[in-house]
Amino acid sequence: MLSFQFSETHEMIRRTAREFANDVIAPSVIERDENATVAYDIIKQLGELGFMGMMVSPDWGGSGLDAVSYVIAMEEISKVDPAVSVVMSVNNSLVCWALDTYGTDEQKEKFLRPLASGEKIGAFCLSEPEAGSDATQQNTIAVQQNGSWAITGTKNWITNGTIADVYLVMAQTNRELKHKGISCFIVEWGTEGFSRGVKENKMGIRSSDTCSLGFENVKVPHTNILGDVGRGFNIAMETLNGGRIGIAAQALGIAAGALDAAVKYSGERKAFGKPIANLQAIQFKIAEMSTKVEAARLLCYKAATMKDKHERIVLSAAQAKLFASKTAVDVALEAIQVHGGYGYVREYHVERMLRDAKITEIYEGTSEVQHIVIARELTRA
Ligand code: CAA
Repeated sequence: MLSFQFSETHEMIRRTAREFANDVIAPSVIERDENATVAYDIIKQLGELGFMGMMVSPDWGGSGLDAVSYVIAMEEISKVDPAVSVVMSVNNSLVCWALDTYGTDEQKEKFLRPLASGEKIGAFCLSEPEAGSDATQQNTIAVQQNGSWAITGTKNWITNGTIADVYLVMAQTNRELKHKGISCFIVEWGTEGFSRGVKENKMGIRSSDTCSLGFENVKVPHTNILGDVGRGFNIAMETLNGGRIGIAAQALGIAAGALDAAVKYSGERKAFGKPIANLQAIQFKIAEMSTKVEAARLLCYKAATMKDKHERIVLSAAQAKLFASKTAVDVALEAIQVHGGYGYVREYHVERMLRDAKITEIYEGTSEVQHIVIARELTRA
């Protein structure tokens, strides 16, 4: 039997995340967006709350929660500031999950524990200047030298790029084998030859940092290979399946935040002698927006539940991300329309929500890539 009941733990996570978002994150959101300042203090506090390694076992410094809890927390934080939740998302689902799933005990002790407890921050490095959607075309190479590896190349669009301590870096270790020749390396900030480009000046999620990374003969020991040599691309793809649930939940939060703002404003603003919430034109918009938000929410919970049951999530994660990200853009745009002129200025937040929403249709696999993933999954033999 299907149950739409949350556990007490889920309710507690929702309350905690909501209170933290409203009390700690909300007051500085406009200022951080305006100045593109990284929320260092807030990220630290997210770690203290146990939100940076939510699905990692307490044995390795995490909170030992399920993926549904993660979706709940991501939605609540993203309602208020998706520039904060993306830091959380990359750390949780791209870096901690990969280390937890493929790491040796030594790698978990050294890298996962401080990342899961929020003491350190992680970044995931797959994209390159000429390898975005076509991710198998990696130009970054790693060559073996006296028992260690030397990495040379450039990575692009790296979330947490200027603030991370630990980077998962995909690189070609055998070009002839194409994607089966890609390996995943754990690289620490501070390693000689490893440099950061300037922070990108972005349209949305402005207070999260994004930059390119340079690798010039960066030496890492063989013990820093995650999983087996040549398994890096598969590790990246498996990791991104879970990442897509995180971004779907982020998009859901943006949409839910925009809906809340539109409902609140429609009750306050009067036109033609009554609150605009009484006008059918507004009522229809709100009905459409809320239905899309609820559908996105159910897709996120379905994908998270399947993940918790260790089922194949390729299809459900891609569907959740495709739908939730479109919903975020659509609902934020309609929320601006409900606000009229006020929606077009900073103080009312909804214009930022639209700017923040757009990236969810691009990162961790564009909507076009999600269409490919979904169609291939449905038609595979
Ligand atoms: N789950 C598991 N495995 C997958 C997979 C998935 N979703 N998608 C592909 N694979 C596996 C395939 O099974 C295949 O494995 P084997 O060879 O072992 O059988 C291998 O990957 C190659 O797959 P394809 O032959 O399908 O490769 P392709 O080149 O035709 O297409 C693609 C692959 C789906 C387009 C893929 O390149 C892709 O997902 N591109 C998007 C990349 C992406 O999401 N980038 C995000 C960057 S990270 C980011 O944004 C983080 C951030 O900072 C916020």
